[in-house]
Amino acid sequence: MLVNLKTILSGAREGGYAVGLFNCVTLEMTRGIIAAAEELRSPVIIGPGESLLPGASLPDYADMMLGIARRASVPVAVHFDHGFTPELVEEAISLGFTSVMYDCSMLSFEENVRRIREMAKKAHAAGCSLEAEIGHVGQGEDYTENGAADGLTEPETARRFAEETQVDALAVAVGTAHGVYKGTPRLDFDRLKEIHETVDVPLVLHGGSGTGMDNLVRASRLGIRKLNINTELLIEAREQVRRELQEDPEIDYSVLLKHGKDAVVRRLRTYMQALHSSGKAWS
Ligand code: 13P
Repeated sequence: MLVNLKTILSGAREGGYAVGLFNCVTLEMTRGIIAAAEELRSPVIIGPGESLLPGASLPDYADMMLGIARRASVPVAVHFDHGFTPELVEEAISLGFTSVMYDCSMLSFEENVRRIREMAKKAHAAGCSLEAEIGHVGQGEDYTENGAADGLTEPETARRFAEETQVDALAVAVGTAHGVYKGTPRLDFDRLKEIHETVDVPLVLHGGSGTGMDNLVRASRLGIRKLNINTELLIEAREQVRRELQEDPEIDYSVLLKHGKDAVVRRLRTYMQALHSSGKAWS
């Protein structure tokens, strides 16, 4: 069942759990994510990002993912992640994505507000949800011994941003980073708690890979309602494919891809159970 992000997040808010956005780049990964969600009766969010389009176009992904989401027996939002160019974000909205992230987190507060407010009108007119980011979640490779270098979200700034833009979901920077961490992830849980108490919009945590399940579970207890995972799934699938190829260099390509899919399913079961989204599907 295809739904928008706002619908998924209002269920998560009421139930006090977090739903994963699992980025996917192939048909098999997408099928794996839906298979895990159906098995565990979990709502789920799927989708590519602007930087994840190496082998296919946005319309290709829309055709594949929207069709799979409509046929799924659980609620699925199809999300365009980290759109940096307004043209691509608008294209995703017009293609029928039910959720988009317009990432203006590197711009000034005023410019971020101006652009997001404008995009919110376009998204909402199409029944699509909009996610934005305040503060900035960086890359794991730039991590320092003391954690994220800078850019952590200020609670009061986040409150003003949410009120002035009408976003449906707000990504916050509380110490996670995208990709593989250099060093140990350090989350600022006091900051997250304060943001949650100050901001009246569901919160999103980017950079879930490598953050550690205990940290992620604690973050979901402190108000995170959408958790983004990308790198871990790509690594999991790649390593499984590598093992299969080592075992049988002549393996059929379609069978190889199926092994990658199965690895994704195994990883997702852990996430859906730990974040308590399992059993929460309402369709
Ligand atoms: P990771 O690749 O660190 O899991 O981050 C995913 C993400 O935040 C996508 O928006």
